[in-house]
This record gives sequence, C-alpha cells and structure tokens, in this order.
Amino acid sequence: MVRTMAWSSPSFILLVLLVSPSSGEEVGDSTTSEELVKKAKVLADVSAVKAFIDSSEISVIGFFEDLGTAEAKDFSALVTEHPEWEYGVSTSAEVQKHFNVTGNTVSIFRQVDSAREDLVINETKDVNAAKLYRFLTINELRWVTEYNAMTAVGLLASKVQVHLLLLMEKGLEKQEEALKAFREAAEALRGKALFVAVDITVKGHERVMSFFHVRKSDLPAVAIYNTEDESKQVMGTGDITVQHLKDFYFSFLSGKSTEEDSKRREEKTEL
Ligand SMILES: *[C@@H]1O[C@H](CO)[C@@H](O)[C@H](O)[C@H]1NC(C)=O
Ligand SMILES: *[C@@H]1O[C@H](CO)[C@@H](O)[C@H](O)[C@H]1NC(C)=O
Repeated sequence: MVRTMAWSSPSFILLVLLVSPSSGEEVGDSTTSEELVKKAKVLADVSAVKAFIDSSEISVIGFFEDLGTAEAKDFSALVTEHPEWEYGVSTSAEVQKHFNVTGNTVSIFRQVDSAREDLVINETKDVNAAKLYRFLTINELRWVTEYNAMTAVGLLASKVQVHLLLLMEKGLEKQEEALKAFREAAEALRGKALFVAVDITVKGHERVMSFFHVRKSDLPAVAIYNTEDESKQVMGTGDITVQHLKDFYFSFLSGKSTEEDSKRREEKTEL
C-alpha cells in the first residue's frame, strides 16, 4: 500500500515520479577514469569506506568492477557536473562483498536515518549522469532537509516516520537561530525524527502552512507530523530552542501536548 504524506502535496510527488528524466548530456570522450580518480576518493578497503561514510552527513559511493566501464564514465560525469556531494569510488571485490553489492552500483549513505539507498546500474533502465543526479536529489536527506518536490519523495521513503518541520520565510532574521537549534536537535534525535525546513516563499509551499493552520505572522513556526497515523501538532509560540524542540517531540509521542501548545490550539479555535 502506498502511504500518503499529507503535509506535503501528493500531486507534487506524482509529478516527480511521472516526469521522465531528462536525457542528460552525452558523456564526452575526455571523461576518463583518471579524472574520476582525481575527483572522487578512492576507497581501497572496508575500513576506508566506513571512515568515508562517517565523515559527512551525505556520502555517495560508486562501486564498480573497474573504472573503464561505461557505467563508471556516467558516474564520472556526475562527479564533474555536481561537485556538491562527497564522492568515493571503489573497485575492491572485498569491499563489494562486505557491502553486499551485486554489479555496478551507486549508493548514497545518510547519517540522519543511518540509511543507504542503492541504484544498481544494470537493474535500472537507461542510466546516465542526469538519472544518477535525480536519484541523489530524491535521497538527499540531511540533518535538516530542505523541502522540495524531490526530497518529498525521499522523506516519504524513509523508515523514520516522524517529521519535524520548520516553517520559515527565507531571509527573515530570527530564523538563523531557529535553524541552528533545529540542526542541533536533529543530531540529538537522530533516527527518531526527520527535520525539514520549509521555505514558504517557494511557490506551492504556502499550502504546508495552511495544512498546519499556521499564519505568516507566526513564522518561524515548528510543526510535527506522524506519517503513520497522520497526527499533527504545532509547537507553542516561544523560542525555538533545542530543549523546547526535544520536549515538543517527546510530548507529541506520548500523546500529551504541552500547556503552551494546547493554549495555542484554543486560541486558534476561538478565531
Ligand atoms: C550484507 O547482508 C548480510 C545478510 O543479509 C547482512 O547480515 C549484512 O549486515 C549486510 N552487510 C551490510 C554492510 O549491509
Ligand atoms: C547485474 O549484474 C550482476 C553482477 O554482474 C548480476 O549478478 C545480476 O544478475 C545482473 N542483473 C541483471 C538484472 O542483469
């Protein structure tokens, strides 16, 4: 059964799934395995891979039989065109056995939910750099994930079902502090909740605000959502601190809202 994620728009998700990936640029002949070795970290053994995964919130590793294959060239094009991720590459049979890799595979490893997502190249149709990029943007869940049509799909697919949302208007002051607290709380609640920043100035995102009955004058505001039972709540006004976020999370889980949160709800129903 397909779960829906009510705070985000299902039509968005559908759009992403239906839109066919752009055909992508042809991989030029100049893209060589030498180039790949220059731009991605070569991981020789299992401990090197583990250290690499632990060193950043998102890491991308290409597992290839050898770097001369067409698949490795697509990966090389990806690395060149999109330097925003940390890339590693491994041709070690021992590494591939340890990580249960069958055939040339591009994997993304995340800290936030300790997850790994694989794109097995020979099991995927028409893989090219553009398709690899799309795979990464969908699965790019960070300590604080920026909400967009691509990450909406990845958020839905994560095994972590509680989402904490920071509804904000990019550029407003006060929000840097809120983001900082958000990021810190995300590490403290690792594996328990996904932290998502929603910039309501982006077209279509204002509906997230109306879903939680948050007004523009309330921003920045924090909301929580459980994708399993679709329960939701808005955090009471007051400073967005790490402690406040943690208390809010645990009170939501235990089913009781804090005094402030219920006060806020009453105010809302009176309006
Ligand atoms: C590989 O698969 C085995 C058996 O399913 C599992 O126990 C092991 O944890 C897997 N290794 C990794 C690194 O995921
Ligand atoms: C993909 O490659 C692996 C290893 O070469 C092989 O075991 C597997 O059967 C292949 N899968 C498909 C769908 O061709």
